[in-house]
Amino acid sequence: MLLQWILRPCPVFVLALCVLALCVSASEDFDWTKNQRGSFFYGTFPTGFSWGAGSSAYQTEGAWDKDGKGMSIWDVFSHQKGKIFLNDTADHSCEGYYKFKEDIALMKDMKFNHYRFSISWPRILPNGIKNDHINEKGIKYYDNLINTLLDNNITPIVTLYHWDLPQVLEEKYGGWQNVSMVNYFNDFANLCFERFGNRVKYWITFNNPWSSAVEGYETGEHAPGLKLRGTGAYKAAHHMIKAHAKVWHTYDTQWRSKQRGMVGISLSADWGEPVDVTNQRDIEAAERYVQFYLGWFATPVFNGDYPQVMKDYIGRKSAQQGLGTSRLPVFSTQEKSYIKGTCDFLGIGHFTTRYVTQKNYPPGRGSSYFTDRDLAELVDPRWPDPGSEWLYSVPWGFRRMLNFVRSQYGNPMIYVTENGVSEKMRGCTDLCDDWRMQYFKEYINEMLKAVKDGVNVKGYTAWSLLDKFEWDEGYSERFGLYYVDFRNKNKPRYPKASVQYYKRIISSNGFPNQREVESWKRKATETCSSSNQLLAADPLTGHMEMVTEIVVPTVGTLCILLAAVFLMFLLRGRL
Ligand SMILES: *[C@@H]1O[C@H](CO)[C@@H](O)[C@H](O)[C@H]1NC(C)=O
Ligand SMILES: *[C@@H]1O[C@H](CO)[C@@H](O)[C@H](O)[C@H]1NC(C)=O
Repeated sequence: MLLQWILRPCPVFVLALCVLALCVSASEDFDWTKNQRGSFFYGTFPTGFSWGAGSSAYQTEGAWDKDGKGMSIWDVFSHQKGKIFLNDTADHSCEGYYKFKEDIALMKDMKFNHYRFSISWPRILPNGIKNDHINEKGIKYYDNLINTLLDNNITPIVTLYHWDLPQVLEEKYGGWQNVSMVNYFNDFANLCFERFGNRVKYWITFNNPWSSAVEGYETGEHAPGLKLRGTGAYKAAHHMIKAHAKVWHTYDTQWRSKQRGMVGISLSADWGEPVDVTNQRDIEAAERYVQFYLGWFATPVFNGDYPQVMKDYIGRKSAQQGLGTSRLPVFSTQEKSYIKGTCDFLGIGHFTTRYVTQKNYPPGRGSSYFTDRDLAELVDPRWPDPGSEWLYSVPWGFRRMLNFVRSQYGNPMIYVTENGVSEKMRGCTDLCDDWRMQYFKEYINEMLKAVKDGVNVKGYTAWSLLDKFEWDEGYSERFGLYYVDFRNKNKPRYPKASVQYYKRIISSNGFPNQREVESWKRKATETCSSSNQLLAADPLTGHMEMVTEIVVPTVGTLCILLAAVFLMFLLRGRL
């Protein structure tokens, strides 16, 4: 109406207006200064919204050397002393390899729409290379897992790389430092499409490549434990991005028309908020934080190249170091157009937020990914932080981040592939996880607000279904909806209160009204105390196994037992 009215008197003015409008909508700048933190929002998600939980192969399967599986870099890394908290390994972990039917029953009870898991590359290709040897027993395990999920109406969302590179490829060729991983990974992915693609329609190439690159090849906290400061992460990431693109093209040209699925990538996307939103330098620092984190991978797959700010900063710092070329590798023109647009949906793993401010790091021999960014991360001491030391609860950061993704990458289809919170072990029998219920409530509510803002979120994956091996933290941090008693050989699962809570969010598809939502926590807490009693009784059975296995052979213990029996007789006689 307004446009029409203006059209008649002054076409030139209208043209100018249109150009202006075009500019505004094309750039869609994210508004850093506007952070709405409204109150709790009662409402529901669009129909068809998909709910589920996730896991990964190395963290849950166990059976590390069973049925022909080869070794991964994590098997080798965790067996080295001093790498993992308490020198723990995931050799057995949750024994998910043997207990998947039981676990799917838990998912069915919670009415999951989907389950996210990963395929262990060395379980089906023990030496990493397809032409070398295919382990049919490994294929069979994933066949059974996928079929059982589908029998229960649960959609599998399958990750191809959740950090467990075949050890052979690391040892012989230098793993992700070597561009030849691109072809090996593509062969592996192609085999998965061939064998499972008739039933799997959601593929994730890489889970959190940021962590794999930075912690695996730069800080060395994760497998393979290399400390190639300032170069290792960039090189690893470069090859992972190429591998992702190649796999997407393989699916696109060879399988898409037959199988009609989608291929995406799952990126870690914690939020960076300017310390002072009125300070332009803080805003730029916060944007760098996000670009060096999420943008490092998202910008290539959506736009074909690294974020300009990464190219500028790393390039300048490399020059100041006296290097002839940037430590950030370069994509050729051909590669850029090959990589651009290789994302049918974006997986988002989000856990926490940081305040960010500008901080200069002078160039020098100590250059690293972290100093290249020229920023400092801060946290508000009022933010709750009950679990992992890095995980502060800042629900509004989730909505900010989702809106950033919408504005930066053309409102892509999003699946939240990881969101959740850990708890450090306090009492060993506390299943009443108030804290986790609060986290889910607030984070899922901020996601709901983002959906109302117009962000295209299609599904949510709670992280994680079970307590599991938490990488370098061993078993000391528990993310599970279900508690796993790792001391017991049978690895029994016990529901925490958050199982009941999440179930109600799922069955209501959101937060229907205040009265109902307020009753959820109380009801969930009622059920968890009986689970607590079950768990408290469990150490007895765990102990009994130990008696038969270890204690019985020792003569001393036998004597004590005999003495106890004798004493009982004596006492009985007295009464
Ligand atoms: C882990 O192994 C290292 C090296 O053998 C040893 O020094 C350390 O005490 C071990 N830690 C624990 C908790 O056993
Ligand atoms: C990279 O891998 C190939 C095998 O695909 C190997 O021939 C080459 O030596 C490796 N390069 C390095 C630097 O290890």
